[in-house]
Amino acid sequence: MLSPVLLAASRSDRTRRLISRVPVTRLVVDRFVAGDTLPEALEAVDALIADGIEVTLDHLGEDITDAAHARRNRDAYLALLEALGRKGLDGRAEVSVKLSAFGQSLPGGHDLALAGARRVCEAAAEIGTTVTLDMEDHTTVDSTLAILAELRRDFPQTGAVLQAYLLRTEDDARALAVEGSRVRLVKGAYKEPASVAYQEKRDVDLAYARCLRTLMAGGGYPMIGSHDPRLIELAVRLAGTYGRSPGTYEFQMLYGIRDAEQRRLVTEGQRVRAYVPYGADWYGYFMRRLAERPANLAFFLRSFTTR
Ligand code: FDA
Repeated sequence: MLSPVLLAASRSDRTRRLISRVPVTRLVVDRFVAGDTLPEALEAVDALIADGIEVTLDHLGEDITDAAHARRNRDAYLALLEALGRKGLDGRAEVSVKLSAFGQSLPGGHDLALAGARRVCEAAAEIGTTVTLDMEDHTTVDSTLAILAELRRDFPQTGAVLQAYLLRTEDDARALAVEGSRVRLVKGAYKEPASVAYQEKRDVDLAYARCLRTLMAGGGYPMIGSHDPRLIELAVRLAGTYGRSPGTYEFQMLYGIRDAEQRRLVTEGQRVRAYVPYGADWYGYFMRRLAERPANLAFFLRSFTTR
């Protein structure tokens, strides 16, 4: 019951102001966010790479309200890619972008977001790495997949994200399971109505398993974006069934979540990438992480009483 309330709060400016002002919030945010600044994010990158874990970096910022903010977000990615280029990490460090941070929901937003994402793809290609387009709420899926198709004409390595909870996703997975297509499969983190999304965890998990099979059987590059032990095990089994060796698919998990499992998979020879968010605009991301797991909310609330 709490999860829909937290997901609604993740888009409330009033709650954002309230939560952001509480000093202890920071302690909990730090578990999920690699810092407010680029140098802090790069420190986290160094530590993960040293452990054999690759990264995809997300400069936090979503649901913006003007074009100037969209340009600032794009420029933050350009600065990030320049810094990654100096480190010479190639594909071990890529970036994930939310098109809403590039103005997708503004008037003329489709073209604005496409232009911003194109510039970031160019900068990524210059340093030999890739971009993945995160997926946001269901109203953005058509626009995001259309932008993906445009970008892939010039940057075929651009990654897609599919959300298993959406009823449409099995069709999208079939369409995207083609040679060279990088697709991250996740369960989905937004509050969606029953008209477009499965509501029960069991149905979401079953849909994930079906989409995973489609992607692993296809010619693309599946990126298994989940911490769910049963789905991770299923992915390993499907890799065997379809004759895939590690490196023809990869596991992805969020920064700060199931770190030991990330390391275990690396020691088993799997390719693992951590999704590393950073930046001052952490509120929406943080609230979605609280909504996913009641224990996170309890941890957050406890931090008020144990100071
Ligand atoms: P599930 O929620 O069932 O969790 C399985 C287990 O993982 C839990 O029992 C717990 O142990 C652990 N766990 C999961 N979430 C946790 C949390 N917040 N804190 C602590 N432990 C937790 N969504 C989206 O809509 N668009 C997107 O673009 C992305 N991108 C993305 C990238 C990557 C790399 C990942 C891993 C996830 C996303 N997501 C996302 C989020 C995704 O949709 C989903 O909400 C979370 O991954 C949680 O789902 P799980 O598959 O982990 O399963």
